Amino acid sequence: MDFENRVALITGAGSLEGIGMSIARQLSKRGATVVLADINKNGVEAGANEIEGKGGKAYAVQLDVTDQKQMQSVVEEMVKKVGKIDIVVNNAGVSRPSRVQEITESEWDFVLNVNLKGPFFLTQAVLPYMKENRYGRIVNLSSVSGKRGGGVFGGSHYSAAKAGLTGFTKAVAREVASYGITCNTVAPGLIGGTDITGGLMTEEKEQEIKRDIPLGRLGQVEDVSYAITFLASEGAGYITGEELDINGGSHID
Ligand SMILES: NC(=O)c1ccc[n+]([C@@H]2O[C@H](COP(=O)([O-])OP(=O)(O)OC[C@H]3O[C@@H](n4cnc5c(N)ncnc54)[C@H](O)[C@@H]3O)[C@@H](O)[C@H]2O)c1
Repeated sequence: MDFENRVALITGAGSLEGIGMSIARQLSKRGATVVLADINKNGVEAGANEIEGKGGKAYAVQLDVTDQKQMQSVVEEMVKKVGKIDIVVNNAGVSRPSRVQEITESEWDFVLNVNLKGPFFLTQAVLPYMKENRYGRIVNLSSVSGKRGGGVFGGSHYSAAKAGLTGFTKAVAREVASYGITCNTVAPGLIGGTDITGGLMTEEKEQEIKRDIPLGRLGQVEDVSYAITFLASEGAGYITGEELDINGGSHID
């Protein structure tokens, strides 16, 4: 897979241990220029430094994906700087392990805004440029929680947001296909070593979760980023509206 002359914008790339940064590494080592966008400024700067230290090309941008104006201006600014955006990975996400009766309206809005409204804003912002170039790859981070119901670390709002993102992806896929733009989701199971568990993972919980995974281990960020790299590649141009499960067999449908 060759990403020479491709520009990729990845949201939620502000954690060196997270999925976003792993995607950035995969794309960068195959030649892409990567734009790391996250609400965490220090995080994206550290990520960009790492990539540039290895000879890659990276930009660090502070961005709150729930702020539509900021989103528009970041996209416009990056297109001015690097000429285009070929690939978007809507990876920024938050989860809360609340039970349905405990979820307040503001928590509901927070989880839905980051996980669902953010990808909508970014898709809207990049589409004019992708359409003009008649090329685009959009990959959205859903979750097994959106398919089988509440995960261990995400409540019903998280499941609703991720299931909503899958529907959004399918609709966008149909709408923009004639411009050479694909739009797909990946649905990871629990990925070890990431911050999404909010520090709630224990050794005991991990063993319990592993017992339900036919492949016998938690996922790793590279399991997810490699699949996304494929969907973001030129060769995946005939795949759109698809959801790729990355869960070790814990949910097969
Ligand atoms: N880790 C898992 O087990 C798992 C499983 C299924 C799906 N996912 C999804 O994968 C994606 C990446 O998760 P991760 O595990 O790397 O988590 P993570 O917490 O390490 O990374 C999420 C990133 O999103 C950023 N972020 C949060 N709110 C933001 C906002 N408003 N604007 C911009 N950035 C914001 C955070 O600063 C963080 O860097 C998420 O969408 C998550 O829901 C993760």
